[in-house]
Amino acid sequence: MKVLVTGAAGFIGSNLVYHLLESRPSWKITALDLLTYAGNIENIAGLINDRRIEFIKCDIADPATVNELFAEKGFDLVFHLAAESHVDRSIHSAAEFIKTNVVGTQVLLDAALSSKVSRFVHISTDEVYGSLGPTGYFYETTLLDPTSPYAASKAASDLIVLAYFKTHGLETVVTRCTNNYGPYQFPEKLIPLFVTNALEDKPLPLYGDGLNVRSWIYVRDHCEALLCAAEKGVAGEVYNIGGTSDGEVNNRVVTAAILEILKKPETLIKPVKDRPAHDRRYAVDSSKINGIGWKAGILFREGLEKTIKWYVDNRSWWQSIKTGAYLEYYERNYGAR
Ligand code: NAD
Ligand code: DAU
Repeated sequence: MKVLVTGAAGFIGSNLVYHLLESRPSWKITALDLLTYAGNIENIAGLINDRRIEFIKCDIADPATVNELFAEKGFDLVFHLAAESHVDRSIHSAAEFIKTNVVGTQVLLDAALSSKVSRFVHISTDEVYGSLGPTGYFYETTLLDPTSPYAASKAASDLIVLAYFKTHGLETVVTRCTNNYGPYQFPEKLIPLFVTNALEDKPLPLYGDGLNVRSWIYVRDHCEALLCAAEKGVAGEVYNIGGTSDGEVNNRVVTAAILEILKKPETLIKPVKDRPAHDRRYAVDSSKINGIGWKAGILFREGLEKTIKWYVDNRSWWQSIKTGAYLEYYERNYGAR
C-alpha cells in the first residue's frame, strides 16, 4: 500500500506517521510537508533511517509539483492533514488559510483524481459546525456555521472534498475531530502553550472568562480513528471524532489541572481580552464512527499527564521553537491584550 500523509511534520501528521508505521508495518509512506513555522522535521527525525518512509518538502498549493508527485508515486491512499491550523493566526491574517486549506485541498483532489487514488481521507475539524450552547452535540448532519476564518476555510475544503465524490466518484471520506493534545503540538495551542509557559514561570493568558468548553482527545486516539475511517469508512461520508466524555471541560479546569500536575501556583493565570468570535463550546457525537469499530480510549487526566511529561522531557524541542518569529507572533497576539 502506497500512502501519502500531507502535513506529516506537523503535530497530528507526525503522530499519524508513527502510528501507521507501527500498526501497518508493510505500508510505504510518503511524508509531505512544506515545513512552515508549524512544521518541524525534528518531529519525524527518528524515522530518517526507516526505508518504509520518505520525506518530500512540497507546497500542496503548487499544482505542477503536486501533479508530478502523484503521477510518479501512484498513491493508493491519501491522509490529508496539511493546513494552517491556528484560529488566532487566522484572525490576524486569513490569506494563507485560504491558499493552503482551500486551494491546496483542491490541488490535491485534482492530482488524486487524475492519478486514480483509491481513497482520500480529509482531516477536518468540529469547528466547522460553529458554537454550541451548554448542552447538545454536533452531529454529522449539523449545519455548517463556522465563525473564524480558519474554521470557514476548513468548511469550504470539506464541501469541495465531498463534491469530488459526488461529481467525480473520487472515494473521499471527511473526518471532523475535536481538540487534540499530546506530543509534538506546537506551543501556540492552549495545552502546550500553558504547559511550557508554566515551566518557564511565565503568565498563562486565559481568554475571557475562561469558561469556554472544549472536548479534548489524545492525539493517538485520533490517529487510530483516522486509520479506522480510511479502512472502514464509507466513501462520501463524514465521521465525527470525539474523546472520552471526561475530556469535555472548560479552559479553567484544563489550566488548573496543568498547574496542579506541574506544582505551579494559580497566580500564573492571567485573564486577558477574549478572542473575537470565541466559540463557547464544542462537543461531538461520535456514534457513527463508533459504529464502524473505533472508540476513544485515553482518559483526559491520563493523556494530560503523559503530555506534560513529554514537554518536561523534551525541553530542547520547544525551547528552540520559542525564539525569533515565535516571539514576534507572541507579541502580536498577546502584547496588546
Ligand atoms: P499543525 O499546524 O501542527 O500542522 C500542519 C502541518 O501542515 C505543518 O507541518 C505545516 O508545515 C504543514 N503545511 C502548512 N501549509 C502547507 C502547505 N501549503 N503545503 C504543505 N504542508 C503545509 O496542525 P495539526 O494540529 O497537526 O492539524 C493537522 C490537521 O488536523 C489540520 O488539517 C487541522 O485542521 C486538523 N485538525 C486539527 C485539530 C487539532 O486539535 N489540532 C483538531 C481537528 C482537526
Ligand atoms: O476543535 C478542533 C480545533 O481545535 C482544531 O481544528 C484547531 O486546529 C485547533 O487549533 C483547536 O482550535 P481551538 O481554537 O479550540 O484551540 P486553541 O488551543 O487555540 O484554544 C483552545 C481554547 O483555549 C479556546 O477556548 C481558546 C482558549 N485559549 C487559547 C489560547 C491559545 C486561551 O484561553 N488562551 C490562549 O492563549
